[in-house]
Amino acid sequence: MSKIAIIDSGVGGLSIYQAIKKELPEQDYLFVSDNQAFPYGTKPAEQLKTRVFEIVERVIQQFNPDLLVIACNTASTVVLPLLREHFSLPIVGVVPAIKPAAKQSKTKKIGLLATPATINRSYTDELIQEFASDCEVIRVGSSRLVEIAEDKLAGRAVNTEQITEILEPFIEAEELDSIVLACTHFPLLNKEIESILEVNSHSIKLVDSGQGIANRVVQLCDSLSKSESDAGHNSSIAVFTDLDALGEPFIEQIHKLGFKETLELS
Ligand code: DGL
Repeated sequence: MSKIAIIDSGVGGLSIYQAIKKELPEQDYLFVSDNQAFPYGTKPAEQLKTRVFEIVERVIQQFNPDLLVIACNTASTVVLPLLREHFSLPIVGVVPAIKPAAKQSKTKKIGLLATPATINRSYTDELIQEFASDCEVIRVGSSRLVEIAEDKLAGRAVNTEQITEILEPFIEAEELDSIVLACTHFPLLNKEIESILEVNSHSIKLVDSGQGIANRVVQLCDSLSKSESDAGHNSSIAVFTDLDALGEPFIEQIHKLGFKETLELS
């Protein structure tokens, strides 16, 4: 059994947690939300690098996980090399699923929906150049959509009018057949996004990184493969950097998702 820590600024880590847990239901999980520093998508790269490094250090010290997933495109696109240089445990990052989206696109016109930071990263430019040079890529950066995903998990009303406005460039684009959800918060709004795009009679496929990350984690867990006596507890713990900031409805949701314990990162 392995203990897998999944780190994001907020609830985005849950979309990655769900994808991994489906493949590996028996492992021990730590869902870590750096809610004190939320959102990551508006922070300068250097500040974000320092913050995520510090969070990873604290998670390792307090919980000693076997494997770490940086379940955040915004952070992964800047901090992965630094983390891998300093820490010896396997670290999986989440980067925009531009490669699979470009591969499956028939019209060669794809959308990229991410935080403003991810949209403007040179890492993203390089991914497009390497894997989607034959595609027209329409980029939309939105921090508001990240907040709407947080609202949904906290039991607050989801503002579909605002989502429609955010998606407008995709709705207007002709022949767009795929949209990369390059922020881990966005798959939590899959239903809302799909219904808006269908209402507007587009047939667009949403592509996220969840399954790809889950497959990579399965591979790594196989190679870590601990002894039977080292059995896990099939436990899922939710860890926050600011526990007091969470409202009751949100904590209820977290418990409903199978996290029996909620802790604060020390
Ligand atoms: N979930 C994060 C991502 O994948 C970003 C959310 C935020 O801006 O904090 O990029």
